[in-house]
Amino acid sequence: MNDRVIIFDTTLRDGEQALPASLSEREKLQIALMLERLGVDVIEAGFPVSSPGDFKSVQLIAREIKNATVCGLSRALEKDIDACGEALSVADNFRIHTFIATSDIHVDTKLRKSQDEVVEMAVHAIKHARRYTSDVEFSCEDAGRTHIDYLCRMVEAAIHAGATTVNIPDTVGYTIPSEFGGIVDALFNRVPNIDKAIISVHCHNDLGLAVANSLAAVQAGARQVECTVNGVGERAGNCSLEEIVMTLKTREQLLKLQTGIKTNEISKASKLVSQLCNMPVQANKAIVGANAFSHSSGIHQDGVLKGQNTYEIMTPESVGINKNVLNLTSRSGRHVIKHRLGELGYKDDEFDLDAVYASFLRLADKKGQVFDYDLEALLFFNQQKHEDAFYSLTYLHATSGQNIIPSATVTIQAGNRSITQTSIGNGPVDAAYNAIIAAIDGDDLEIVDFKLDSKGEGADALAQVSLIVEYKHRRFNGIGLATDIVEAGVKAFIFVLNNMYLADQIDQQKQEKIAGV
Ligand code: KIV
Ligand code: ZN
Repeated sequence: MNDRVIIFDTTLRDGEQALPASLSEREKLQIALMLERLGVDVIEAGFPVSSPGDFKSVQLIAREIKNATVCGLSRALEKDIDACGEALSVADNFRIHTFIATSDIHVDTKLRKSQDEVVEMAVHAIKHARRYTSDVEFSCEDAGRTHIDYLCRMVEAAIHAGATTVNIPDTVGYTIPSEFGGIVDALFNRVPNIDKAIISVHCHNDLGLAVANSLAAVQAGARQVECTVNGVGERAGNCSLEEIVMTLKTREQLLKLQTGIKTNEISKASKLVSQLCNMPVQANKAIVGANAFSHSSGIHQDGVLKGQNTYEIMTPESVGINKNVLNLTSRSGRHVIKHRLGELGYKDDEFDLDAVYASFLRLADKKGQVFDYDLEALLFFNQQKHEDAFYSLTYLHATSGQNIIPSATVTIQAGNRSITQTSIGNGPVDAAYNAIIAAIDGDDLEIVDFKLDSKGEGADALAQVSLIVEYKHRRFNGIGLATDIVEAGVKAFIFVLNNMYLADQIDQQKQEKIAGV
């Protein structure tokens, strides 16, 4: 049997659908490009029929990605498959992924159909998808709780209809490793045409077993694993990409399996997904948590100093963590910054050196010393800047203190109009937000979440604000970074406004298309 495990990433579909606020088209593209650099084989970019925004972002990703197969999800319905086919047809390589539920509980309660009817729908959907591409994946939703006889029948019918990958999801994260491995083993023993397709698995983490279940399935013969960066996804999330990949790599001698993942890109991918999705990574998370490679006990520290492999089963460098620290100040030249970014794993075409260096100097003037995490944060925020942004901040003044009413004056540029407003509030951030809302007539905006984090350590840390705003029943994400909390908050709000502006433009274009303008 082939020893290569296909890594199918669904951060932008299963992961994205579980976020409190959806990602913008640009943010999705940024993640897709990162996944391409990481070396994933298949990128599930979205669910095109679900919204015009999703359709457009799947199309954009399909156009831009050259070194991975781009995939779209569809229910077993012609209109979903047609939307997928249309959005993906611009790609060099694309896959249509169609699914229907197979467990009794889903078939009887959700679909209210007979088992025969569900097989017929699946076969019809696969044949319809084959009109667009020969790369068709079929998923038996809730396979983990499906009767094995019916699962075997469905898998055989799906392969016969033309599915080239058949996915076995543990949709509700219910199974345990021996059981899930046993399901895959039974399929290999009982489905006569099993050798005509790749068997894939897609495990959710409700019992914390998604990675263990995926591993058991791979040991039983599955050759595709569906996973997400940092394990983001519905409820407790999906199988974590970094954990399954590093398990296969670290235990390669035992498992004799490989992936095409460039593991030294893992840390960067994790940071990007965490920032953009506004999903912090727990410090003790395997592979990418802040403490994953730090040793606290004296005995362990002593051991590691004597020999790294006494307490480390993989090196931090193997997942792209660089532990050297360099002091950067306003006297550090452009070439030093470029060199350091290179050491941190960023390629020249990933950043605009002029822009990063200008921000670096501004920060160095304020902070004195700039650390690696500051540099990475600056890079991230420079990448997030909307080119030709409609809204920008040109002036901010806020006051607060004991026994005074907090107030703020804000000037924002909205296209070619400059608007200044002053407001009061229950704190300086609230006052600044009230001023912005007054400046843009934004009474229909609702701030649903405001999170303040520190980036870096101690008094040197930068303030990072992550903000979620609801507008026209949709939620938009924004992030802002500054040495000052109020400024970080205002920058996050401006970020949200630009995301909303872009989304409005996409809706408008779609409506014009429908009206034939
Ligand atoms: O969890 C699940 O069953 C899914 C399918 C659509 C593959 O996400
Ligand atoms: Zn899922």
